[in-house]
Amino acid sequence: MRTIIEPFRIKTVEPIRMTTVEERKQLIKDANYNLFSLKSEDVLIDLLTDSGTGAMSTNQWSALMKGDESYAGSPSYYRFKAAVKDLMPFKHIIPTHQGRAAEHILTSVVADGHGEGKIIPNNTHFDTTRANFEDAGIDARDLVIPEGLDTSLEYPFKGNMDLDKLEALLAAEADNIPMVEITITNNAGGGQPVSMANIRGTKAICDKYNKPLIIDSARFAENAYFIKIREEGYRDKSVKDIVREMFSYADGMTMSGKKDTFSNMGGWLALNNDDWAEKARTRLIMTEGFPTYGGLNGRDMECMAVGLTEIVNEDYLQYRIRSIQYINEGLDALGVPVMKPAGGHAIFIDAKKMLPHIQPLQYPGQSLAIELYIQGGIRTAEIGTFMFGRQPDGSEKPAAMELVRLAMPRRVYTQAQADYIIEVFEDLRNNISDIPGVKITWEPKSLRHFTARLAPVG
Ligand code: F0G
Repeated sequence: MRTIIEPFRIKTVEPIRMTTVEERKQLIKDANYNLFSLKSEDVLIDLLTDSGTGAMSTNQWSALMKGDESYAGSPSYYRFKAAVKDLMPFKHIIPTHQGRAAEHILTSVVADGHGEGKIIPNNTHFDTTRANFEDAGIDARDLVIPEGLDTSLEYPFKGNMDLDKLEALLAAEADNIPMVEITITNNAGGGQPVSMANIRGTKAICDKYNKPLIIDSARFAENAYFIKIREEGYRDKSVKDIVREMFSYADGMTMSGKKDTFSNMGGWLALNNDDWAEKARTRLIMTEGFPTYGGLNGRDMECMAVGLTEIVNEDYLQYRIRSIQYINEGLDALGVPVMKPAGGHAIFIDAKKMLPHIQPLQYPGQSLAIELYIQGGIRTAEIGTFMFGRQPDGSEKPAAMELVRLAMPRRVYTQAQADYIIEVFEDLRNNISDIPGVKITWEPKSLRHFTARLAPVG
């Protein structure tokens, strides 16, 4: 028997403040029905994101003290760089304060002041990636395989790029495509993995048209573990070797260290192209900091360096993937329409199926997220029309999927808390058709889901 338990014990705890349904009704109203506007102390189980919310290990906390805060040439940078290169041997490793800063800098390099008319394909752009490209005038195209859009279909690699569509796009528009991106795992598409064969296939098409392939790598270790357990020929390979192979097909990466390095802050941009790296570093100095700290404390780089060695631990990854599956299976058994199979970092609920009485432009995902908070104190995130509906031309269009994401912070919640999440859904089942839709009463020009104000309809 292979033991599947939490492969850690708890040394420090953070108390949770208990609240009642009545209190939460008022708190969410005061927050204008936007979960981002809640105070985290008013949340029981915070599944808003798995970003920067993980628990650090004793080794990471110890490494913190080794942080050297020198402006230039800090040993913390060199330790960080060596840890990255051990897994992802790119030529240039450029630290940034988080993933979106790496995206911003990469965008400035590829747009080069003239983003209009350019296209960047991806399996599915994450919201900040899309926003950075679109802000520069670039057309961010999602080319995930059709299986990836069917939430109930069991398919091992639903994050795969549609290679036929990619090839067709490159054949038609090669001159306008500065790079191709692939997101592992495919966060906006349900945390679904991309197979090694698909990364290889994407690279082959990129090579044919002489285009760089950049990997948006936030959850690279989870992706590698899925390859190990699902893709033929990888069962006997170590996750570390699988990670190295994945990145061997890429010309660069953007990374959010807030996910698969167990750090509260940090990220990086890695590139092989000297010209791009020089432009990126120039921009980095303007917006983030000197190239050996890039907006980070030395101690943050130490935490990422240690986290990179821990994240490829297979006992951890087995526990991680299994604990997400556990909740997914529990909800599935209750008849909750969960995305299948479970993603790597989150449980995704198909709100379109769960709340069929709510129209897309009354945001079924957001409506469900509000109800989960009121009934259970659980904070989740909508990934649907509320997040993606507003188009660059100002019109509004239903998103391809109406998902609610229960993102699990790493090494944070126990199995009893997982059972509680399932119980909240069990209670929720009794009054599904009473859950109201919501309308937006105010929204900003872009990235509206973070700050928009809402109200229940009717
Ligand atoms: N790429 C992916 C796939 C992401 O999931 C994220 C962040 C980023 C890039 C940006 O990185 O947050 O460090 O600036 N995702 C978080 C989430 C915020 O909740 O999914 P960042």
